[in-house]
Amino acid sequence: MASVLIREAKEGDCGNILRMIRELAEYEKLSDQVKISEEALRADGFGENPFFHCLVAEILPAPGEPQGSCMVGYGLYYFIYSTWTGRNIYLEDIYVKPEYRGTGQDWGGKKSSPHRLPHLLPLNRSLWSFLIPFSSDKPSFCFFLPTSGQGIGSKIIKKVAEVALDKGCSQFRLAVLDWNKKAMDLYKALGARDLTEAEGWHSFRFEGEAMRELAGK
Ligand code: ACO
Repeated sequence: MASVLIREAKEGDCGNILRMIRELAEYEKLSDQVKISEEALRADGFGENPFFHCLVAEILPAPGEPQGSCMVGYGLYYFIYSTWTGRNIYLEDIYVKPEYRGTGQDWGGKKSSPHRLPHLLPLNRSLWSFLIPFSSDKPSFCFFLPTSGQGIGSKIIKKVAEVALDKGCSQFRLAVLDWNKKAMDLYKALGARDLTEAEGWHSFRFEGEAMRELAGK
C-alpha cells in the first residue's frame, strides 16, 4: 500500500506548492488575493534567511508500484514572537488535496467517505513513466491512491507541533475563516482553542494604500 511522508519542502517543490496555494485560495473563495510567484517562494523560503518554512505531504508508492511519488498537501509556517510567551510558530496555510482528505476512521459516528478516493488506474509501466514526472519541479500528478484517508492534515499539524517544541516554541497559532467548520472541527479535535470564542480577538491587517499612506510613500 502507498504511504504518506511528511517532509521539509525543497526549493524544487515550489511549483507544486504554488499550485496548492492557489487551490487553497480557491477553496477559501479568495483566489483574487494570490499575488505570489514561484520565484518569490524560491527566494523567500530557500535563501540564507528564509521568511517561511514548509512541510509537504508526499504519497510514496508501495514497493513494486511503477508510478512516482506525488505531492498531495502542504503546511507553510514561520516563526513569530509573543511578548507574553516568547517563541511561537504561525501556521499560515494547511491544505490537503480533496481526494486525500479524511482519516478513514470513525470518530464516534463520523466517518470519512472512501468513495471520495480515486482508484488505482491500471496503467502499464511505460505509460506511468510517460505520465508521471519524477522531477519535483514539474507538476505532481496523482493518478492513484489506494490509501483510504490517512489523516494527512493531522500528520502535518503534528509535525508542526514537533518542530515548534524542538525550536523552543510554546504555541503555534493559525487563523481560519469563520465558515470553514470542517477545518475548525479538526483543530478543536486536535486540542486547539478558538481565541475568538474564548478571548474575543479580531484579526486586522494594514495593506496597499493604507500602508503607503502611513509610511508616507
Ligand atoms: N477527533 C475527532 N475528529 C477528528 C480527529 C479527532 N482526534 N482527528 C481528525 N478528525 C476528523 C476531522 O473532523 C475530519 O473529519 P471528516 O474526515 O469526517 O471530514 C477528518 O478527521 C480530517 O482529519 P485529517 O484526515 O487528519 O485531515 P485532512 O487530511 O482532511 O486535512 C484539512 C485537513 C487540511 C483542513 C483539509 O481538509 C483541507 O485541505 N481542507 C480544505 C482547505 C482548508 O480548509 N484548509 C485550512 C484552512 S485554515 C489554514 O490554512 C490555517
